[in-house]
Amino acid sequence: MPETPRVFVTRRLPVAGLAALGSAGLTVDVRQADDPIERHELLERVRGAVAVITLLTDPVDETLLEAAGPQLRIVANYAVGYDNIDVAACSRRQVAVSNTPDVLTEATADQAFALLLSVARRVREGHELVASGGWTGWQPLQLVGREVGGATLGIVGMGRIGRAVARRGAGFGMRLLYHNRRRDEAAEAELGARYVTLEELLATSDAVSLHTPLTEATHHLIDAAALARMKATAILVNTARGAVVDEAALVAALRDGTLWGAGLDVFEHEPAVHPGLLELPNVVLAPHLGSATESSRTAMARLASEAVLAALDGRAAGNVLNPEVFGPDA
Ligand code: DGY
Repeated sequence: MPETPRVFVTRRLPVAGLAALGSAGLTVDVRQADDPIERHELLERVRGAVAVITLLTDPVDETLLEAAGPQLRIVANYAVGYDNIDVAACSRRQVAVSNTPDVLTEATADQAFALLLSVARRVREGHELVASGGWTGWQPLQLVGREVGGATLGIVGMGRIGRAVARRGAGFGMRLLYHNRRRDEAAEAELGARYVTLEELLATSDAVSLHTPLTEATHHLIDAAALARMKATAILVNTARGAVVDEAALVAALRDGTLWGAGLDVFEHEPAVHPGLLELPNVVLAPHLGSATESSRTAMARLASEAVLAALDGRAAGNVLNPEVFGPDA
């Protein structure tokens, strides 16, 4: 009997989101683990698969595509970011690549805003003081923070998530600045956001929130020089990709008072975190939780599954990044 086509999923995902694959008669081979797959195991287990659902920790390159074999139709990345995938290499082999846009926008924007508020109002230090039993009572000068309402929010990268953060900022009465590859007149009209150069944004914002993909151009976009441009009272929030920020330079800036605080959901060398960050009081650190809501994580799996099913049917789902691999009529 011929084997049923196999979809390899590199980690446990919300099962409801994968149900359609089983219903379509595919073999759904889920690696039953929550930690990143070792490279050698990844290369072994992709062999013969018609589709692979990957995570941001799984590099997809020529070697992987070669190991998978010519029957591979799609790499469906369980993330909106796809800096782990060599899309050009996939296109050369007619392998589609998809990501999971839209369904995690609000969740990630919530996380960015949660970090901003936590840093501005010193929520973490307050919690630690109370939980340690060291709180001796209300004090006029204790853990005073910064006001968010009325402050200037600078959005770097006005894509879906950047706009959702800007909406939250508008709701808090913040003045909005943004920097983007292109001007976004719709966002300007909707939110009253003002387009400025990155230099102006850094120099005039009270809070800077990063929403750019990680590319060669954005690697260390926020380096020592960029941090030096920021106000000493400013807060940096990163829910994009860790390597957009030079983490060592950030530690130095937070230590010497160049920058007031930082809220970080992502790190340059995840899961490693610069040891200096662990010692600082003026940071709130989260383990890459931007999309971590039940509904987002399930919808991400559903979107990946739908892209797989469409690809196996010779069609490009709307979230395919290289639809040209399906030919001109797809
Ligand atoms: C993404 O989608 O790119 C996030 O980093 C993980 O949800």
